[in-house]
Amino acid sequence: MTETLALAVPKTAKERGKIAPVKFAHIVYKTGRFDEMVQWYRTVLEAEVVMGSPMVTFLAYDDEHHRIAIINMPDASDKPGNAAGMDHCAFTYESIGDLFATYERLAGSGIKPYWCINHGPTLSMYYQDPDKNQVELQIDVFDSNEAVNAWFKDSDFDTNPVGVRFDPDDLLTRFKSGEARESLLKRPRIDPSELHAQFPG
Ligand SMILES: [Fe+2]
Repeated sequence: MTETLALAVPKTAKERGKIAPVKFAHIVYKTGRFDEMVQWYRTVLEAEVVMGSPMVTFLAYDDEHHRIAIINMPDASDKPGNAAGMDHCAFTYESIGDLFATYERLAGSGIKPYWCINHGPTLSMYYQDPDKNQVELQIDVFDSNEAVNAWFKDSDFDTNPVGVRFDPDDLLTRFKSGEARESLLKRPRIDPSELHAQFPG
């Protein structure tokens, strides 16, 4: 167990008397696949175009005026797979039903996750947009940070910080059969020798 994992739930910056952002606002992509990228994020996030122009499009799906902006840059080059920078962004759904409804809806449009992993604190499905940016669609397994911390202490996270892969269709079948949420979302323990098999690819 590392020292980091043993820490108590931290107070918010505001509770510590600091001035910090009140929220995470948006993500902006520049792309050479403008129309494709706009359509992909509209589809995946059920987003609407709040401002569209040949140079940039703003997309919204909740109470923020725009969560995603796509900048049209026809001569943009693709990033090499090992480029430094952001690895992925993640979006949380309200329920396992919402996550699976989204999985089924996207599969119907030919958009499928390349990696489905029970991280422990989250059940996550990873997708790639047309530029190969990685997008995680997830649900929180626990209902409080205290519960997440308790899980960190009791689980095998120290030997498996990745998670355990799952088959989305299998889990969907179990969900539809009425299996309890707790049983669906409980991360199994694996032997450390199985860790490499949990990575994508
Ligand atoms: Fe993530």
